[in-house]
Amino acid sequence: MEQDVSNAPTTNRKLLRWVEEVASKCKPDNIYWCDGSQEEYDRLCAEMVAQGTFIKLNEQKRPNSYLCRSDPADVARVEDRTFICTERREDAGPTNNWMDPKEMKAILDRLLDGCMRGRTLYVVPFSMGPLGSDISHIGVELTDSPYVVVSMRLMTRMGSAVLKHLGEDGSFVPCLHSVGMPLEPGQPDVAWPCNGENKYIVHFPEQHSIVSYGSGYGGNALLGKKCFALRIASDLGRKQGWLAEHMLILGVESPEGERTYVAAAFPSACGKTNFAMLVPPEGFEGWKIRTVGDDIAWIKPQADGTLRAINPEAGFFGVAPGTSLKSNPNAMRTLERNAIFTNCALTDDGDVWWEGMTDEVPAHLIDWQGKDWTPDCGRKAAHPNARFTAPAGQCPSIDPAWESPAGVPISAFIFGGRLSRTFPLVFEAFDWRQGVYWAATMGSEATAAAVGQAAIRRDPFAMLPFCGYNMADYWQHWLELGDCYQNLPRIYRVNWFRKDEDGRFAWPGFGHNMRVLKWIVDRVHGRAPEPVSSPFGYMPRYEDLNWEGLDFSKEQFRRIMDIDRGEAVAEAEDQEKLFSEFGPRLPDEMERERQRLLERLKESPAVWQAA
Ligand code: OXD
Ligand code: MN
Repeated sequence: MEQDVSNAPTTNRKLLRWVEEVASKCKPDNIYWCDGSQEEYDRLCAEMVAQGTFIKLNEQKRPNSYLCRSDPADVARVEDRTFICTERREDAGPTNNWMDPKEMKAILDRLLDGCMRGRTLYVVPFSMGPLGSDISHIGVELTDSPYVVVSMRLMTRMGSAVLKHLGEDGSFVPCLHSVGMPLEPGQPDVAWPCNGENKYIVHFPEQHSIVSYGSGYGGNALLGKKCFALRIASDLGRKQGWLAEHMLILGVESPEGERTYVAAAFPSACGKTNFAMLVPPEGFEGWKIRTVGDDIAWIKPQADGTLRAINPEAGFFGVAPGTSLKSNPNAMRTLERNAIFTNCALTDDGDVWWEGMTDEVPAHLIDWQGKDWTPDCGRKAAHPNARFTAPAGQCPSIDPAWESPAGVPISAFIFGGRLSRTFPLVFEAFDWRQGVYWAATMGSEATAAAVGQAAIRRDPFAMLPFCGYNMADYWQHWLELGDCYQNLPRIYRVNWFRKDEDGRFAWPGFGHNMRVLKWIVDRVHGRAPEPVSSPFGYMPRYEDLNWEGLDFSKEQFRRIMDIDRGEAVAEAEDQEKLFSEFGPRLPDEMERERQRLLERLKESPAVWQAA
């Protein structure tokens, strides 16, 4: 057994001690220190091909790319197995699963004992954000999954340079991961090891550490992403005065080369990656969208109130189904090579396919479970949560400044849910405080069932599954920024998902969202005409948007900007349920904003008044 750390490529005392401690508990056969090189990546991929975990795709069609199929019971994040363990339950808040840290540590101690037998413990040093940026942070993941190692190389800056940066005393977030399936001597491995009985995705915000057990799937196992960059980092941000957000970052570039950056939060499955890589439609010649990130933003206030943001990730881990040359040509081009596909279908010529990729459906495939598939078989070829993992630098729309250590300046925040009836296409909050209120009460319809009855799942700031502490304290943190800084970005709510009476989308979405973005940019730079003041906030008039290249009448626009007043009141009243969950921790401003909205709705003849 190579459990000795005397030859380790680091002198960092905390790291050496921790690796030794984990090795003596988890009892791996070997310890391997990852250097992050291409040679190491290729070797681990080849080992996984030999082991049956990876299938090498056709080198002509998809160079240096692999497909893997997970266990059918390990296909998504497991929110009900995700825990925030703080000393006091109220510090985790009513929206998180809480367990006493001592109780949780006792459970994990039992599960981790010998959990890596027959496997290698990989030490994966990584940086979230460009190495050396004062917005970045370092983590080290210890994992017994080579799939995690190669994925972390695509998703983070990983390897020797990080160890060098850590030096003897540098600090890091310890992230321990095990698939939870030890092997007895001689026991053959399976293609996708995981634990069928126990899954625990555990965060200790008071120690800033993470333990994940039993799952090999992305969000549960690539610990730099949701676990570190959102749950632990949100807590770090609160303590240190910055923000870790579930937001994409994009730059809107005008024909004159002026670039305006915005950060936008949407709940999962609302097309964040498509928005981050938007292709402007006809009527926007010379305009470009530049992508900085598609999922997470770390945002640091500067002394003058400018907010500078980085994408802490180095790759995209996106949902494959629905991605096509029509819906997102930039994503399709990002995936042309050096990509890992999970739970996609395999074509007869050794490439990948998923629902929505092409108009023409292949006559035969091997589906995500390794079974023969034909169009009439009644099953999906790719799992609906099938994923691609690819380096961000390959994206044709990547922003030239995406790796700038200083980050990019954010001029506007955009928040949007999926709401077929109650929300207008776009409005601007009156001020920071009201913007925080609109972001806090954001939601999406849980189902499209029962028209008129669709229940709203509140997803404040799109952070419901990702805020590592009490959500009411998180709102307070946002409010305090407003007290500390002037000239903060303006805040917008958008809704791309409004439907007409026949249940059809009333807004074409995708590239046409550029029309809304352009109005936002014009507002930010003081170029837009005076907007309409409505009970919700400031709204554009029909003529304030560029309609060139789209046949969209003033009446159609009125319909997606207007809201039935009764429904608007019902929405404001319904928000009370969310607020009441937080008891005395709820910042007073939140309830005050809700009351102000109700007042304005009472006084106003209509929500939308086109001038
Ligand atoms: C994601 C998510 O996978 O938000 O990004 O669920
Ligand atoms: Mn996400």
